[in-house]
Amino acid sequence: MSVYVIGLGSSLGPRRQTLELALRLLDLGGARVQACSRVHLSPPSGGVARNPFLNAAVRVDWSGTASALLKLLKSIEQRAGRRDAPRWADRVLDLDLLWSARGAHREPGLVLPHPRLAERSFALDPLLEVAPEACDEAGRPYAGRQPLPGCAAVGVLAHAPPSGSLARPQQRQYSQRHSGAPAMKFFLDTANLDEIRQAKAWGIVDGVTTNPSLIAKEGGDFIATIAEICTIVDGPISAEVVAEDAAEMVRQGKLLARIHDNVVVKVPLTEQGIIATSQLSAAGIKTNVTLCFQPVQALVAAKAGATYVSPFVGRIDDVGRDGMQMIEQIVDIYANYPDLETQVLAASIRHPQHVLQAALAGSHVATIPFGVMRKLFAHPLTDTGNAAFTAAWDSVPDKDIVGQVTRWLQDNGR
Ligand code: E4P
Repeated sequence: MSVYVIGLGSSLGPRRQTLELALRLLDLGGARVQACSRVHLSPPSGGVARNPFLNAAVRVDWSGTASALLKLLKSIEQRAGRRDAPRWADRVLDLDLLWSARGAHREPGLVLPHPRLAERSFALDPLLEVAPEACDEAGRPYAGRQPLPGCAAVGVLAHAPPSGSLARPQQRQYSQRHSGAPAMKFFLDTANLDEIRQAKAWGIVDGVTTNPSLIAKEGGDFIATIAEICTIVDGPISAEVVAEDAAEMVRQGKLLARIHDNVVVKVPLTEQGIIATSQLSAAGIKTNVTLCFQPVQALVAAKAGATYVSPFVGRIDDVGRDGMQMIEQIVDIYANYPDLETQVLAASIRHPQHVLQAALAGSHVATIPFGVMRKLFAHPLTDTGNAAFTAAWDSVPDKDIVGQVTRWLQDNGR
């Protein structure tokens, strides 16, 4: 068995699905996928292609020759619908043999490592996620070189192999230049003041979302509840308008925004809601466009200037569809158009797996019910491990850490 890294790219058609299809066909063709990078978005290059590319890299075990692997790649490209096109043109699927763990290799039509690997961030960045040890022909590592501009990680492939030590997206081993984005924010999805106070103490709550159902469930006064939440959490607090027509939504929204600078006006993703969002955005009022159930609605909300869009993951799952795929597609769409500043706020979160998937998809925010947020830091092995450490500590002669450290600091003049 030899280890190879294959670069995947697509700029035409359903790009993500095509890359996932290529993964399955590689596996079926005998190239055992050990690890798959994240998906990277890169602008068209070479002056011919017009569409942004999605790129990834896979590390495979292959028992045949390098040229037999290359032949498999060409047949997969054909099966995916690739047709002859000029160099650098848009492609349904592009598969390149990038690197081999066996070292440099040359034969007619095949040079490894790929001769232009070091010049292309869309190939090098994914490759380094699955083969951080990769070196060029002269044995110099690619990792740690001056970062190349151009591409950003935007998600993962749904059909990446699920198990094995390498069968997960590998983190970058060198530059963090694409990780400048802030970590996914955690909003608390509740109007319960006790829950908000308790969760605030965890120090991980960045904001709060409410909706008419959550307010009604608590039985308190709407405005007093929003005002109180604003005193507890110093971050965006969503308060929803309840009206049929845009004019009334705008009227309510402008008043809600006066309660506190942190209030974000929540507006339904209806025709009237979009009119209201456009007007509120134009007036400099932050909005959270809610009840989003398909990616194109999120594009509409962004074009109306929404600060946040709330796609309802759990409610999509409830009707037998994949709610998280909607989040991935919205993140992809927004990444295609950097002028869109709307943040994806994954809502209707039902369990920690949703939070994990939202983070992997690159959602800007997840709004999480109290019970689910508490589960994020719970694990039975943490509890049993902690109990074992505590029990073991009983046999240590001097257990007074504070006293010991204080004496040590004094003795050492600190
Ligand atoms: C938050 O903004 C939404 O209103 C909320 O997440 C909806 O969640 P649900 O589908 O559990 O009601």
